[in-house]
Amino acid sequence: MTDSITVTDNRTGEAVEIPIVDGGISAGELRKLLPGVWFYDPAFMTTALASSSVTYLDGDGGILRYRGYPIEQLAERSSYLEVAYLLVHGELPNAEQLRTWTEDIRMHTYLHDNFRKRFLDGFHYDAHPMGMLVSGIAALSTFYPEAKDVVDPQVRHRQIIRMIAKVPTLAAACHRYSAGMPFVYPDNGLSFTENFLSMMWKVAEPRYEPDPVLAHALDVLFILHADHEQNCGTLAMRTVGSAHADPYIAASAAAAALSGPRHGGANEQVLRMLSQIGHVDNVDAFISDVKAGKGKLMGFGHRVYKNYDPRAKIVKQTADAVFEVTGRNPLLDIALKLEEAALSDEYFVSRKLYPNVDFYSGLIYQAMGFPTGMFTVLFAIPRVAGWLTHWQEMIDQDSKIYRPRQLYVGADRRDYLPLEQRK
Ligand code: ACO
Repeated sequence: MTDSITVTDNRTGEAVEIPIVDGGISAGELRKLLPGVWFYDPAFMTTALASSSVTYLDGDGGILRYRGYPIEQLAERSSYLEVAYLLVHGELPNAEQLRTWTEDIRMHTYLHDNFRKRFLDGFHYDAHPMGMLVSGIAALSTFYPEAKDVVDPQVRHRQIIRMIAKVPTLAAACHRYSAGMPFVYPDNGLSFTENFLSMMWKVAEPRYEPDPVLAHALDVLFILHADHEQNCGTLAMRTVGSAHADPYIAASAAAAALSGPRHGGANEQVLRMLSQIGHVDNVDAFISDVKAGKGKLMGFGHRVYKNYDPRAKIVKQTADAVFEVTGRNPLLDIALKLEEAALSDEYFVSRKLYPNVDFYSGLIYQAMGFPTGMFTVLFAIPRVAGWLTHWQEMIDQDSKIYRPRQLYVGADRRDYLPLEQRK
């Protein structure tokens, strides 16, 4: 048996044999046989966008690995900054490399003061933090015009460090603006995650002392969200990046995609849904409504995971540790009942719908005091490392500009009619 397929064009009898390599077949080979015939694959259900060495995901097995390392081991033993290094460089750092990387990130946490004084000030008082973040990331581009030189690896690396370092500062500033609180400058004596918490919550104390359990829990959540191969946001990053737009503009497009309720915006929607359900006694009626097509069970289902989402398991364990400190989130009981009801219901079982990463993360964020509008921002902060890694990989592969075809189904040629002759 050979690892290949043979495709025959029945119009001409011509055939082409295409090897199956790394689980895929080359559309380029098919194109030789079928010039002018396009592969119709709405929403890329069967298309491999790229060959990538960043993240391995087996949806049926519930397996997720960054650069070969199982997500469970990274969540238990690593830190977010180390994982970001792993993603960007492809290998875990040694002690010296980690020290330099941490120092480099620390050196770049400050934002230009215009962000605080002029840029954020322009937003309405109740602006959604995710909208502010998307525009803020794009605005960073105007401060670093050198970033346009995307083919220079050193310039690229500088922007990677800048963006990983500055997005938490920007994210916290968006929150402080919405809350009407003064901005807090980065405290570079703290770790990446502790510093973010300090910028979020510091009031008048000389130094913010983060709770170690909560800081660790958030760091674990950052690890879990750091990358997820070719998802909707990463596709946006790669698409905009393929036009050689600078990485801030491309990452802003990725963040925009992430904000959608079908994607990273689901964590916010889960909380709204749980609050709306209001009581465990209402769960069965809610499930019946979902089955009747009246809305979705947010935080359930995934394009790729059809068994379970390995991240959701770790999030659930993390929730236990967080609730020990913060007290139990009263919405947890509704979430647990909802999960139990869905996992024993034929509708969800037959469609292979399981809790995804967003189902429990919002409960943790809420228990930690984050307002609902910040939940997707908390997803975006660590995902910056993943977006940038894919962007860098794409440019290293010398990718062509992304430009799919379409199957045109519109009107045939027709002549323009003056306004007075139209019905
Ligand atoms: N609740 C109820 N039914 C659902 C749900 C859900 N959460 N998700 C999928 N279904 C149903 C669909 O209605 C469809 O049913 P049908 O075959 O009778 O028409 C079937 O399951 C298959 O669903 P699709 O929409 O075809 O699956 P797709 O892969 O296109 O969508 C998605 C995946 C967008 C995640 C979807 O499951 C969803 O909307 N979930 C809720 C939002 C959510 O939690 N998003 C976060 C995903 S994780 C992330 O991006 C970080």
